[in-house]
Amino acid sequence: MRRLLVAGNWKMNASKVMLNELLAGITANAPQQTDVVVFPPAPYLLMAADKLQGSSVKIGGQNLNANESGAFTGEVSANMLVDCGCDAVLVGHSERRTLFAETDTDVLAKTEAALAAGLTPYVCIGETLEEREANKTEAVIEQQINAVLNGLTVQQLAKCVFAYEPVWAIGTGKTASPEQAQQVHAFIRSLLAAKDEELALNSHVLYGGSVKASNAKELFAQQDIDGGLVGGASLQAEEFLGICNPA
Ligand code: 13P
Repeated sequence: MRRLLVAGNWKMNASKVMLNELLAGITANAPQQTDVVVFPPAPYLLMAADKLQGSSVKIGGQNLNANESGAFTGEVSANMLVDCGCDAVLVGHSERRTLFAETDTDVLAKTEAALAAGLTPYVCIGETLEEREANKTEAVIEQQINAVLNGLTVQQLAKCVFAYEPVWAIGTGKTASPEQAQQVHAFIRSLLAAKDEELALNSHVLYGGSVKASNAKELFAQQDIDGGLVGGASLQAEEFLGICNPA
């Protein structure tokens, strides 16, 4: 049985005041039946970890460098994230792939580094509008997910979370319909099953792209959608809690 998992990716949005208000709002009403994780920007992770002590809400980093340490100005390692109180880290978000030229090879290296440090990697995959319109959705998804499926053991993959985020639905207000999302989620699960049946049964596959309190229930009701990776709507406690608790 896969528990509902809702993750809030704050992207490059935060201040000390905002963090205090948002986390106070989320922790005051975090639902027991949902696993909740927030991904604040790196400079706020320590403060978030401090705020979340004693709460069931977990935190994660938005990115990591695959190297352990050294001359990589501006970068953050997996062990630093752990040291700052993180449980998880996003890997391969489409904004990292398109704006910072991250490749499938980078995604695999980062996923391995995260796992080695004991972090849960949230491996993000998704097609652009152009790719969808050219009927390439499944080919793109397969290529992106195969980068990790072929590079990791079943035991390593069992510690990953997967997130399907169609690029055309991110920050656009254009959510994939529950049927469109379910179709791709079922495809992702079939690829996991080809690697290992048990892995497919137990893995969380989240949907991301304009998830809101008003559409979460229908999306999460789909058989292969196990929760959400939420951007904009994770910046307001009430809206985020409405997604975490889509009753
Ligand atoms: P939005 O929810 O703002 O569309 O962002 C989705 C996302 O990119 C989460 O990682």
